Amino acid sequence: MPIILKLNKQKFLYSVYNITTILKKINFFWKRSQVPNQEPIQISRIDKLIIFLICIVISIISSYKLLLVPFLQSSVVFTWSVSFFEVLITCLLLILISRKENPNINSRQILLIISLLLIVQAVKNIFGSGLSPLSIIVPPALIISQGMGTITALSWVSIASISWPDQIFNINSNLLVITMICACIVSVLGGKIRSRAQLLQLSIFVPIGAFISQLIFVPNVENSLLDKQEFFYSNGQIFSDSLLLAIIMLITILFIPIFESIFGLLTKARLLELADKEKPLIRRLSIEAPGTFEHTLLICGLAEEATRMIGGDIDLIKTGSLYHDVGKLHAPKWFIENQDGSKNPHDEIDDPLKSAKVLQAHVDEGLKFARKNRLPKPIANFIPEHQGTLKMGYFLNKAEEKNLNFNENDFRYKGPIPQSKETAILMLADGCEAALRAMDINASDFEAQETISKIIISRKLDGQLDDSNLTKGEIFLIKKSFLNVWKRIRHRRIQYPTTKNNTFS
Ligand SMILES: [Fe+2]
Ligand SMILES: [Fe+2]
Repeated sequence: MPIILKLNKQKFLYSVYNITTILKKINFFWKRSQVPNQEPIQISRIDKLIIFLICIVISIISSYKLLLVPFLQSSVVFTWSVSFFEVLITCLLLILISRKENPNINSRQILLIISLLLIVQAVKNIFGSGLSPLSIIVPPALIISQGMGTITALSWVSIASISWPDQIFNINSNLLVITMICACIVSVLGGKIRSRAQLLQLSIFVPIGAFISQLIFVPNVENSLLDKQEFFYSNGQIFSDSLLLAIIMLITILFIPIFESIFGLLTKARLLELADKEKPLIRRLSIEAPGTFEHTLLICGLAEEATRMIGGDIDLIKTGSLYHDVGKLHAPKWFIENQDGSKNPHDEIDDPLKSAKVLQAHVDEGLKFARKNRLPKPIANFIPEHQGTLKMGYFLNKAEEKNLNFNENDFRYKGPIPQSKETAILMLADGCEAALRAMDINASDFEAQETISKIIISRKLDGQLDDSNLTKGEIFLIKKSFLNVWKRIRHRRIQYPTTKNNTFS
């Protein structure tokens, strides 16, 4: 008997071990699937209160019509409270999803998302079945997808399409499905569109698509071409429905730049505009600090390739790397790349502590430039995060040689360390750029790879990549892409053999 008991106990322990292993694995994969892992930025209590109050107002206007019955019964109150809390919970879920998709989202942007929902619910109440759902739901989806991303826009669309204030709302179900499909298309494409021209195309093709779909799938509608009286109250007038949608979408596109500046939205088009090298700040950098400008362009190449390899946001890193060292404009000659043989001011002052302050100033001044030029926060984040809390090794060694009384933190940048994959890639590219540029033209691929690995490992051991969520596989891909770029640069530097009279070859 004791042997059987012992065997059973062993079996039991073995199965418990198996279950815990499976649970651990599920937990691991769940955590891995939660991207991005970046902590969302904090929202003040007052903003939270305002957002919550707006959510309550949305829930009230979405459900109050249920209470407008001659005799108030407990079943009516129950149905109303279910509807009220359903809308409230979906609103809160929408905020959670937007913060998960976009950790840099601030209270103004959350206010924009829920205010659009508030407006839509109010419009539904005012116009009832008179206004086409296409014109109500599709244009806001464009703003949200452009500014906050596709997943947030899709969540917004699902809430706006499902919760209608009136239970006996008389909308053709096919029209509602067409509206949802159009809004989903706008949400998916809106998150990817990179130019205003593509936005214009979208605002023309989506209404055309809606028009054709309504012709085919919405039965029993008056196919009048344009009814002047019923133009705005156009549900069922399929031509005016689609025309109204096109007009509202065009107006929305006109207003997107205003939304960008008021709510600090970072659309793809805005990113590309900021990456224009004719922008005053970048022009100043190219004239006043040409060495830094060259360094910036090289880093752009390295960082862009690495970001493409790991599937990150290429437009964000391209723009972010252009502005990462703008702070050097405060004293260009204090940075070696701009000295072109002239005297090094650091040698003249011969004070490592002061030199370290000048280096830190390129981050502080950079943030000031970012504020003055109204750079969006995700771009400004590249300025402090590309330096993280790195050691200023050269001046630290000098201070040690001079036996100065100092704290090691005096020779470290103030941080923070990179909080996203993109800023971490820029830090690595920044470290590798000078080393790769200084390498001998005849250096082998292996030597270049060793140099890149050394720099990346030193950053990792220093804890600089701790908050970036870069995986081992991604770091491997980053090394590989840096090597590829270096090979390209080396290829450009190799002079082709010239022969006589080959001027035109
Ligand atoms: Fe820098
Ligand atoms: Fe740099």
